[in-house]
Amino acid sequence: MALINEHFLKLPNNYLFSDIAKKVNSFKVTHPKERIIRLGIGDVTQPLPPAVITAMHKAVDEMTSKETFHGYGPEQGYSFLIDAIIKNDYASRGIMLEQSEVFVSDGAKSDTGNIGDILRHDNSIGVTDPVYPVYIDSNVMSGRAGVLESGKWSNVVYIPCVAENGFIPDLPSRRVDILYLCYPNNPTGTTLSKEELKKWVNYALANDVLIMYDAAYEAYIQNPETPHSIYEIKGAKKVAIEFRSFSKTAGFTGVRCGYTVVPKELNGFTLEGKRVPLNKLWNRRQCTKFNGASYITQRGAEAIYSPEGKEQVKETINYYMSNAQIMKEGIQKCGLEVYGGDDAPYLWIKAPKGLTSWKFFEKLLYEVYIVGTPGVGFGPSGEGYLRLTAFGDRDDTLEAMARLKKWML
Ligand code: MLT
Repeated sequence: MALINEHFLKLPNNYLFSDIAKKVNSFKVTHPKERIIRLGIGDVTQPLPPAVITAMHKAVDEMTSKETFHGYGPEQGYSFLIDAIIKNDYASRGIMLEQSEVFVSDGAKSDTGNIGDILRHDNSIGVTDPVYPVYIDSNVMSGRAGVLESGKWSNVVYIPCVAENGFIPDLPSRRVDILYLCYPNNPTGTTLSKEELKKWVNYALANDVLIMYDAAYEAYIQNPETPHSIYEIKGAKKVAIEFRSFSKTAGFTGVRCGYTVVPKELNGFTLEGKRVPLNKLWNRRQCTKFNGASYITQRGAEAIYSPEGKEQVKETINYYMSNAQIMKEGIQKCGLEVYGGDDAPYLWIKAPKGLTSWKFFEKLLYEVYIVGTPGVGFGPSGEGYLRLTAFGDRDDTLEAMARLKKWML
């Protein structure tokens, strides 16, 4: 008799985006003629940059001959990609990393979910609220989140980020062992200044807190003062793991590639208080459970750092950020309160007339045929908000704004 991991039974039946997909599918069955505009899940719509396609074609061709074929690659990623990452994403900002501090993977979702493997089940967790659901759900699965009581997990400290505090999280009300930060933020689309981020790094240094820093959306930052990496802050290598993704940067949502930085100087502790480098544990975990992202994928990722790749990526990001501006202006003209969208591809909208998140979601779906993501799906402080993504096609984005205007005014 195989006993199950009963922590799974504590989870809601569906992952947030699967739940929404089900609701949208049932709408489609009952309204087959209506054209839905999907601005819910943050999936990209523009094709891969041509430089990536060329590099991947070349890599496929290499697979056709015995001399250039690639079988298993290094679990940590190929050095050609790791070198390009270090040079372009870090050294260019004055951050020095060793090759062995970067772990290429199949994306930030997997890594932010899997990182808990190397940490004890009874660490306490802190999250900014609303929050990307993977951080919470993966901790529930390992038993670390405790039990669900009135919409909150008992072993999780929720740090509200709402309009009233300008979406700037306060230090947690009680001590946490592990803290998740995502900036630019999913779902609110807001950012933290260098000063604010410094506050968190100093807090972590003073309290032995491990920060999980999800920087999946850093490529969308427009403000030159906004930090792209937590390692821009002095001392951060001692307290933070950073996650990055090529999904939103270069349209890899369907290709799957990202990476995680685990600095050598970052330690965890045994129960007896002995320091253990987390880099060593993550390396061990990856070697056992992961066989590396594919060679073809990694050659594609490498190509985004070529001069033409960089240009093409910039163009696509500008395209999405123009969508974000169109949306922000359109939503404001409708008289709605809206946040984010300046340094991130997400717009965080206050539901009108005191509607709940789900009610607003349903009204948009059933009356305007637009799919958003209900804010409360990201946590209790998301109640009364709804998220739209700027990853849509331009024509769809324009039409969505026209529909919204007609509906609201
Ligand atoms: C989102 O919509 O929040 C993201 O697309 C989810 C993800 O990146 O996994």
